[in-house]
Amino acid sequence: MHLPKTVRIVEVGPRDGLQNEAQLIPADVKIELVHRLGSAGLKAIEATSFVSPRWVPQMADNTEVLRGIVRQPGVAYPVLTPNLKGFEAALAAGAQEIAVFGAASETFSQKNINCSIAESLERFRPVVEAAKRNGVKVRGYVSCVLGCPYEGDIQPGAVAEVAGTLYDMGCYEVSLGDTIGVGTPGRTKKMIEAVARRIPIKMMAGHFHDTYGLALTNIYASLETGVAVFDASVGGLGGCPYAAGASGNVATEDVVYMLDGLGIDSGVDLEALVDIAEWICTRLGRAPESKVARALLARRAAALAVA
Ligand code: HMG
Ligand code: MG
Repeated sequence: MHLPKTVRIVEVGPRDGLQNEAQLIPADVKIELVHRLGSAGLKAIEATSFVSPRWVPQMADNTEVLRGIVRQPGVAYPVLTPNLKGFEAALAAGAQEIAVFGAASETFSQKNINCSIAESLERFRPVVEAAKRNGVKVRGYVSCVLGCPYEGDIQPGAVAEVAGTLYDMGCYEVSLGDTIGVGTPGRTKKMIEAVARRIPIKMMAGHFHDTYGLALTNIYASLETGVAVFDASVGGLGGCPYAAGASGNVATEDVVYMLDGLGIDSGVDLEALVDIAEWICTRLGRAPESKVARALLARRAAALAVA
């Protein structure tokens, strides 16, 4: 089994991470987080979301954040847009890439974006068309691909149907989200194989949460199927408001440590990531939760103590 030689990491900490933090982080700190992530070598940094501030107050400063970013050449700063209103605001703030986000679970779709799966796809269609007219790239998300907090197991065919529709609409990539982190490697592979009957594997991204400690295992299983794009969140920021005890997205530093060990190039500097994890977690008043950040920070502290 040949694993991909390179992997693209989509850093989602500033959006998926901070949207789930109870504490509101000032816009200037979010902007600095995005800048630091770019300096660590990340080429795709999801910056914010243009959603209702009543639903997600943590992202209410979306325009200020997106406008405040000093863009680095070759780095994409996608933002989430659930509807045309969000798209127009994102475009006005300078977005060059957006993401529409659907789900493979009816109940999750209702709870997350207040409409059915079918309605959501019809809502995304004019957003994708408007984006194309304006030269804006569109990524698609499918949430709950391996389980739903309300409906339990999700059938791979349901995931393939939503992913396929997003791809047909014009999304250049579809991110498959194990939103509550219940996936296991065998089920991950079966789900990817089902989606691969609708869209090419190279158009898929994996988005794993670490609730049961299997995010890296599921990424490895995905690599074996040929998936070569993964979403991750520095410091493992985030969580899921709909799943008690759910951990955040897999930590970017955990993913980079594993990829480095496999000889897979991600272009991301592990030590710089650990610095960022420590910095943002200090702003949140806690230590980074990822195993790799803890280990490397402890190693640094031990080296300082003997110096
Ligand atoms: P709704 O209440 O059905 O919307 O919410 P509406 O169209 O009926 O409008 C109601 C009010 O919201 C109106 O304001 C609109 O103007 C306003 P009012 O007249 O009452 O003052 N509104 C907006 N305001 C700002 N930006 C907008 C917008 N749209 C309407 N874009 C809506 C529908 C989709 C807006 C709402 O449900 C919402 O914002 N949901 C977002 C939820 C969200 O952000 N969830 C997290 C992202 S998904 C995720 O994290 C999973 C993922 O990471 C994958 C994974 O982790 O696995 C992607
Ligand atoms: Mg997530």
